Amino acid sequence: MSEFFGCFILIENHRELLENILGDKKSLELYPCLHHRALSSALSILKTRKDVRIVVISSTSSESRGSDEVKKLREIYPELPILYLDHSPDAFPKFDLSAVANLHTIQKPKDFQEILTKFKELFKKDDRWDGISPSPEAKDVELELKEKDYIPMRIEDFILTDKSFFNVFIKLSSNRFVKILNVGDAIDKEFISNYSAKGIKELYLPESEQKRYIALSERISQKILNSASTTTKLKIKQVLTLGAAISSNLSTCGVTAEKLDYASSFMSQSITLIKSMRFKNDSVTDFLRSLENNEHTTTISFIAGILANELGFESSKSIKLVGIAALVHDIGLYQLAPELHDDHEALSGPKYEKIFEEHGKFGADLLRASGNFDESLCIAVEQHHLRRRGTGHEVRTNNINIVTEIIGVSDDFYNYVIKGGVTKDKMQVFLNTHLKNFSPQIEKAFMKMLTAKKKRGAA
Ligand SMILES: [Fe+2]
Ligand SMILES: [Fe+2]
Repeated sequence: MSEFFGCFILIENHRELLENILGDKKSLELYPCLHHRALSSALSILKTRKDVRIVVISSTSSESRGSDEVKKLREIYPELPILYLDHSPDAFPKFDLSAVANLHTIQKPKDFQEILTKFKELFKKDDRWDGISPSPEAKDVELELKEKDYIPMRIEDFILTDKSFFNVFIKLSSNRFVKILNVGDAIDKEFISNYSAKGIKELYLPESEQKRYIALSERISQKILNSASTTTKLKIKQVLTLGAAISSNLSTCGVTAEKLDYASSFMSQSITLIKSMRFKNDSVTDFLRSLENNEHTTTISFIAGILANELGFESSKSIKLVGIAALVHDIGLYQLAPELHDDHEALSGPKYEKIFEEHGKFGADLLRASGNFDESLCIAVEQHHLRRRGTGHEVRTNNINIVTEIIGVSDDFYNYVIKGGVTKDKMQVFLNTHLKNFSPQIEKAFMKMLTAKKKRGAA
């Protein structure tokens, strides 16, 4: 897994290579490209788009063999990686590439795959999850540790291996922890369920190890997705477990481009699953039950992906963006009140009233400050509790964009139907009241999502 979140800009006039790149639709889904013939138009795009990860400049861009373009770009954006494609290394004028910071080169590039190999090298994730050593803290004694350095994971999502690959902690109270596992300790289901029986809901991993835990989870879910003999239910469970680990890291430690690369991989796996879902002997209820007991934002992200697909969102890229926005839609809530698990909990009493009111805007501002998100996605996060109609606690307005509505309806569906177990009654109430608060387009897609599964089920 090495795809990235966002896109790259290509300034290229070499006909053959260009045809090869723009013709490879499959790779472009994972590495979206904005093609320009000249730097000037690329620069105006760079002013508005925040998710450009690298600019590829070809020696065919100008008479200076791209050197003017490289220098100008470096001047305006000192940090942005540049990949220089030198189609004729022996030609003049020559220029000293080594003097340009963060510039990488490919000489005589053959095809898109060669460029992608370079991207994979440059945006490589730390995917080693073994080889971690026991940390120095003693086991089974109370420890004072900095809370922000430890990422919570739901105990039911914890991936079991014969021996622990990680140092695992439980939290007693603010900044107070106990280490329960060292790397290499034997571990089994009973060990975990004993803690669960004691009312422990979360296990904690040091942040540096949790990233590797995500890598382990990513590998396992890729393997399960590729297996023909595994049931859809199990595939959903594993993909959502991966999403939960990523979501927890994002909401605890903030948004960075590197973490969004993981979110992007999660959404790619979700989309593969969504597009291949067949429920041979299952009904729609079975499908919905497979979503029960999963983490709030991850489940919503998955439902949002299905809805965007039903709504006919053209490319996997746009489905992916909706899913990632859904994955971070409550990031403000978890920052303001880390003890909450979802929006509904925030409605449990006056203590959280103000937090509920403010979490959309707070979250959107966090995403804006991270500099990775387009404004349209920030607006979707900011407004995810706006509704067209209804009498609930949300604010009413008519002017809501489609991505916002997808997140909103998925959020309501999780809170009113999936959370705590799907029942016919809850489903009826949702269809007759909550779903009516959204546009007819959303209502139609939602019904299609449910009936499509039924038809597949009957097949
Ligand atoms: Fe929310
Ligand atoms: Fe939510």
